[in-house]
Amino acid sequence: MYDRTNKTILITAGPTQEKLDPVRYISNYSSGKMGFALAEAALGLGYEVILVSGPVSLSAPKKAKLINVTSAREMYDAVMTQYKKADILMMVAAVADYRPVKSSKTKIKKKKETLTLKLVKNPDILKALGAKRRANQTLVGFAAETNHHEKHALKKLKEKKCDYIVMNNVARSDIGFQSDNNEVIVFGKNNISYNLRRASKINIAKMILKIVT
Ligand code: C5P
Repeated sequence: MYDRTNKTILITAGPTQEKLDPVRYISNYSSGKMGFALAEAALGLGYEVILVSGPVSLSAPKKAKLINVTSAREMYDAVMTQYKKADILMMVAAVADYRPVKSSKTKIKKKKETLTLKLVKNPDILKALGAKRRANQTLVGFAAETNHHEKHALKKLKEKKCDYIVMNNVARSDIGFQSDNNEVIVFGKNNISYNLRRASKINIAKMILKIVT
């Protein structure tokens, strides 16, 4: 049996917020529920848990080491500081792909009919871990897709050098973002896949951990 004593899981969760000005930001609908459910399930199995969370309105399990961050760059820095301590890396957060090139120090004023925002790519935390992690660290990515689900998920598995990609269909309102339930397909290397039928996020979390650990 897999020995979980003294093993650590690093989990990212929630959205990131990318500042536009003192009162506005760019973000997404991620609630953090899936990442927090994985943290709870992992603690239940006896793992140490480091939870790097974007802004969410959930309370973290007491036994987790919680690191709160706001932007993608802060999340990147927190993960890079912590990842060496972990045996399993689960990147569940819905990180903003882009951030405003500059955030205004003062509130952006309403002027012309149109306003163009210039955005720049954020660092890809999962991809960076794919390149840096040790061979004995298990790397799990998530893919929130609205179309061509399997194709996109398999592309990510390969390009981000993950051991597993957990794919969920965020076009459906009964699962995924904000919902208490989820239904996922876990793709592993060597063409293995597992269909996890609709269930509560905590039960999906337990099943995912069973597969990847
Ligand atoms: O490419 P995409 O953003 O859809 O990939 C999703 C996966 O990559 C998730 O596991 C997410 O946490 C991770 N990711 C990341 N850093 C980013 C973008 C995505 O860690 N900047």
